[in-house]
Amino acid sequence: MIEIGFSILSSDFAELGSVMGKYENLVDFIHMDIMDGNFVPNLTFGVPVIDSLRKKTKILFEAHLMVTNPLRQWEWYAKSCERILFHIEAENPKRILKKMKGVEKGIVLNPETDVKKIIPFLEEIDVALLMSVAPGFAGQKFKGEVLKKIFRLRNIIDRKNLKCKISVDGGINHTTAKLCSEAGVHQIIASSWLTTGDVAKKINFLKSLS
Ligand code: DX5
Ligand code: ZN
Repeated sequence: MIEIGFSILSSDFAELGSVMGKYENLVDFIHMDIMDGNFVPNLTFGVPVIDSLRKKTKILFEAHLMVTNPLRQWEWYAKSCERILFHIEAENPKRILKKMKGVEKGIVLNPETDVKKIIPFLEEIDVALLMSVAPGFAGQKFKGEVLKKIFRLRNIIDRKNLKCKISVDGGINHTTAKLCSEAGVHQIIASSWLTTGDVAKKINFLKSLS
């Protein structure tokens, strides 16, 4: 079964406490989009906000660090987030993976980054997150080129029998989720699509994908 992560990016930030209550029993984890206004042209939230949300729920928190200096900042989130993902475009994985301890680890690839770049690190990480939009904003259109990357990575992971899960982030809806599941994704992250309409029904649909 595919795991579902809800990104709070398109939630009403004045209501984040109740957002936790709404989603904690529906999804597998909460995805925190941390943007520094430098690595990406947008600024979101940081440690104080996540620490406050941590007190509201026990669900797994995943930090998606869209920051220029993850080597310095990952530890800030290690207390509140069980899983921390950094961009390969921001830091040399060899350097940071050596330091990351006590959390699940993930590497994120931008849409234009060659999937080959993550292959040497697959044995050391828990998640390979493939962006299907340019990082920075919710509500963008899904970039179909990611499907080939998912397919290729899934073949490698299965062939080598690795524990690393493939995750996809950006532009997820009914149609694109199905395409990602057919390509072999293990986890799906969605934000704007999961904030409107019958959210429970949409999540049940996502969970029915395998
Ligand atoms: C984009 C973020 C995504 C984003 C997804 O920079 O990393 O997690 O919130 O939003 P939707 O699902 O609306 O594309
Ligand atoms: Zn994200």
